Amino acid sequence: MNRILELGAKGNPVNMSSILSELAFDISTQNFFGKSYHGHKTSVTNSTTDERKDLPTLILQVVENAMFVPGDIYPMLRKLDIGGVEAALLSLRKELDDLFTSIFEEHRNKAERKETTVATEDSDFLDVLLSLQSENTEYSLTDREIKSLLYDLMLAGTDTISAQVIWIMTDIMRHPEVLQELHKELDSVVGRGRMVEVSDLVHMKYLKAVIKECIRLHPGLPLGAPHQSMQATKVAGYHIPAGSRVFINLWAIGRDSRVWENPMDFNPGRFFSSPIDLKGQHFQLLPFGSGRRICPAMNLGIQMMQLIVAQLFHTCDFSVPQGMGPGNVDVQEEFHGASRKKIPLELLVAPRLPPHAYDLHTAC
Ligand code: HEM
Repeated sequence: MNRILELGAKGNPVNMSSILSELAFDISTQNFFGKSYHGHKTSVTNSTTDERKDLPTLILQVVENAMFVPGDIYPMLRKLDIGGVEAALLSLRKELDDLFTSIFEEHRNKAERKETTVATEDSDFLDVLLSLQSENTEYSLTDREIKSLLYDLMLAGTDTISAQVIWIMTDIMRHPEVLQELHKELDSVVGRGRMVEVSDLVHMKYLKAVIKECIRLHPGLPLGAPHQSMQATKVAGYHIPAGSRVFINLWAIGRDSRVWENPMDFNPGRFFSSPIDLKGQHFQLLPFGSGRRICPAMNLGIQMMQLIVAQLFHTCDFSVPQGMGPGNVDVQEEFHGASRKKIPLELLVAPRLPPHAYDLHTAC
């Protein structure tokens, strides 16, 4: 928050897309590794560019390469690797593997200095996984398995959060009446004397309705994750052969007039007295999927989004750059598995609270 306000004080528009991307990355690395790994570079170089990269750059490049390739649809084309995506991903895997190895070493050295292999209160996720190895139980994982798990979690949990929060901010900035109502709720629940705390979220009904409405129109993962049918089945009268790769088009469902009244209207009010939530029970709105493969971090994801959005709008007074109206905030999308805003969201930022209220020990 400090950084956003510092940049805002210079009077130029602040690139919120890049700040939120860094924030989501820092939250993940803090949870998994106990610290941010910005600037900690690989010892191996990239096979084509010959450069050494750090963790955020590598994760971003994997996400950018996570696209549909002809070989996904016609397996016989896979060998040709049209566009060189597979080769690029293999090189990135090697680089990430090298970086994870050095992070593992750091954690093992830390455990040795503490002279304990048992996880303690200040242990991070990786400490816990490594400590299970020495216990040699059915839960202990090999280094390779831990690397795959971390790789999966970082990919699934970094870009999704930042992409989704950027869309939420974009939609709010396009609707000044919504911003005004949100400010009213923040002032009445939190007040201008302090920052938002997790316990405030339960009282923020308007914030939750706004977030649902933004996600309806701009789901962070518009096609969810691919599934494969294990046996032939029928869905809504369509025959799905065994082994089909199936995508659920969440983006289209969110804009379907058979499901939503006036779907293109941005109207958080539609959720005020509606039982529809984000938790996979209401098929009109499935941003985290549904069923056995539902996002395992759904509750964390919902809470992170609510807290980040509430904190940003409570502590910062955002406005669109001079010469632009709210309706000019661009909504072009760019698809890399997650849907990102194509043109970065740039906003003017001023403090909204008195200086004493910026207690940096508070959440977010
Ligand atoms: C706003 C944030 C997020 C959104 C919108 C989101 C959405 C999704 C969706 C749609 C799926 C596929 C579900 C399905 O196939 O039915 C998924 C899977 C997954 N998500 Fe999330 N997610 C978010 C945050 C996170 C975070 C923070 C993490 C980890 C810390 C995470 C970890 C995962 C994992 C590991 C899977 C794969 C589960 C499996 O294949 O069994 N997600 N997520």
